[in-house]
Amino acid sequence: MAVLHIHKYPEVVLKEKARPVKEITDEIQCLIDDMADTMYQAPGIGLAANQVGALHRVIVFDVTPKEEGRNLCVIINPEIVASEGEVVHQEACLSVSDYSCDVRRKACITVAGLDREGNPLQIEAKDLLAVVLQHEIDHLDGILFIDRISRLRRSLYNRQLKKKNKT
Ligand code: NI
Repeated sequence: MAVLHIHKYPEVVLKEKARPVKEITDEIQCLIDDMADTMYQAPGIGLAANQVGALHRVIVFDVTPKEEGRNLCVIINPEIVASEGEVVHQEACLSVSDYSCDVRRKACITVAGLDREGNPLQIEAKDLLAVVLQHEIDHLDGILFIDRISRLRRSLYNRQLKKKNKT
C-alpha cells in the first residue's frame, strides 16, 4: 500500500476520460488500496482514479463522520442510473488547490456498479453522499467541480491560481 501523488488542476490527466474496468486484476486491487491510503492521508472523503493518474473507472469514498471510524467504499465502473431533485452544496477537491464553491447537483441518485470482488452493487444516495458520488463520477469523465460553476467564478479562480504560482 502506498500514498500516491494527487494530480492538480490544470494537469491534463484530470481532463481525460477513464476507461471501464474489464477485469478486476491484482493491479486494480492494488490501485484501490493505494487510492484508499491516498484519500485517508490527504485527508479527503472521495477520490477518483484519474486524480492519481490512473485512467480506470474506479472511485473510493468514505463519508463516515470521523468519530465513527472508517468505512471504505469502492465502486468500479460506477454509473448513475436514476436521479431526482436538486441540491446546492459547497464543494472542494483534492485536485483543486485552495478553492471551494457552491455547485448545483441532483439531490438523490441511484448508482450502479461493481464492488471490488466484481459483484454488482447499487447504492441509493442523498445529501453529502449523493454529492460526493456525482463529484467522483464526474472525475472519471474528465469533469471537475469548477467546470460546473459560472464562467466568471472559474476565471476568478484561474486568476487566483496564476497569482499563487508566480509567488
Ligand atoms: Ni475531486
